[in-house]
Formats: sequence, structure tokens, C-alpha cells
Amino acid sequence: MITRKSRREIDEMKKTGQLLASIHEQLRDFIKPGITGHDIDKFVEKLILDNGAIAAQIGYQGYEYATCISVNDEICHGFPTNKVLKNGDLIKVDTVIDLDGAYSDSCWAYVVGEGSKEVTDLMDVTKEALYKGIEAAQVGNRIGDIGSAIQKYVEPKGYSVVREFVGHGIGPTMHEEPSVPHYGVAGKGTRLKEGMTITIEPMINTGTWKSKMDDNGWTARTQDGGLSCQYEHTIAITKDGPEILTLQKD
Ligand code: MF3
Ligand code: CO
Repeated sequence: MITRKSRREIDEMKKTGQLLASIHEQLRDFIKPGITGHDIDKFVEKLILDNGAIAAQIGYQGYEYATCISVNDEICHGFPTNKVLKNGDLIKVDTVIDLDGAYSDSCWAYVVGEGSKEVTDLMDVTKEALYKGIEAAQVGNRIGDIGSAIQKYVEPKGYSVVREFVGHGIGPTMHEEPSVPHYGVAGKGTRLKEGMTITIEPMINTGTWKSKMDDNGWTARTQDGGLSCQYEHTIAITKDGPEILTLQKD
């Protein structure tokens, strides 16, 4: 079932979204060579708790950390580890927070120190892909319009779109209907209506879109060892257009 949220519910989601956005803003300076994924995870968890929110990923299907930290060829659901991050690493920090029963979900990509052109180009394309998807999230469009906009932007540039992991509805629970693939056919799928709240979270690879699963049963990485990047916003579909609930300051 797809639920549509009232203005008041969207405003509550925006409160949690703005807290999450401010955490990502603070990560910009925090992430540098020499720190570990664990350091980032603890930093994020403390900010969540200090602001009266819940780190919603902890305990979700047995997941143990506030964040997913996926490095270089890891696509998503990487565990925070004690491995020291080094100059040039591409890291994606994904977290979900629950503030007074409203959820928001946002993943952001960071380069540790100075990134190679391969890394920074991939980051630029992935962020723009997210915004192409958001732009297509208009009342009256369909779910397929979002994925199609992303795929049409990304693939001619020689990058690929991950298939196995998709965006989702969100609200008073972390994952709701509908699924939001980042590939697809324009004009197909569920029609987008006012009040729907969803995540758009394209994972874009330099090589194949195909993934393999680590032995931990969580972490997906590219089959060919190529780089993977991801940006994710939680958005509301409104009659005035898509509203980004996790929007960060420039
Ligand atoms: N933040 C993820 C998403 O985009 C959910 C992570 S699954 C968890 O849907 F188990 F790590 F929480
Ligand atoms: Co997420």
C-alpha cells in the first residue's frame, strides 16, 4: 500500500531530514585521511542521539551500525571498520534517522583528501543523476520516469546504473511502497501523486552494474572491482514539484 502524507506529516519528515542534512554538512570537514569508518560511524551516531533522534539502522534486520560506510568498489551496506581511510578513497555514508516517529534517509559521497579525476567525475555524474531523478518526480508522472531520466543521463557517459538496490517509500517506517528503481521505462509504473514521500538513491558504477555479495551477507560490491558512487535524498512529491527533505546547505 502506498500512503500519501499530509502537509503536517511532510513537515515532520522535513524536521528529521534537516537534522540528517546537518549531519552530512558536518561530515564534510570531519572526513579526512587517517580516520576510520568507525570514527565516522561514532561521530554520526553521537550527533543523532545528541539531537534526540534514533539511529534507525541499528537493529534493522540485525544491522549493527548507525551508518553504512561503503568504500571505493563497495556499492552499499558496507560496515564501518577500523581500516584507516587514505587519500583518494571514495566513501559513501548512508544513514536513516527517526525523530519523533518520522524517518529520513540520506546517503552522501565524500572523497578522502584529494580525489583522482576518475573519482571526482563519477561523483559529479552520480550527483547530477540524483537531481535528474528528482526533477522527474512530478505529480502525474510515473515511477518509470524517475529511473528513465537517471538511466538516460548516466549510460551515454559510459557509466552503469545498479539494478539490485532501489529507492523506496518512507515515512513513519523506513521502507514502504513503492520501490523506486533507478533504471526503467518512461511512462511505466505507478503514477506519482501529491503527498507521496520516497527516496531516490542512484548507485552509479564506472564498470559493470553487476554486484557480488560479501561473506557478511550485507555488503555489495562491484563484480569487476570498478568504483561505485551514491547520493540519496528523501523527497516529497507536492503539487509545487518535488521537495527535498534532506537538502543540505551549499
Ligand atoms: N539507508 C538504506 C536505504 O537507503 C537502508 C540501509 S539498510 C540498513 O534504504 F540495514 F543498513 F539499515
Ligand atoms: Co539510505
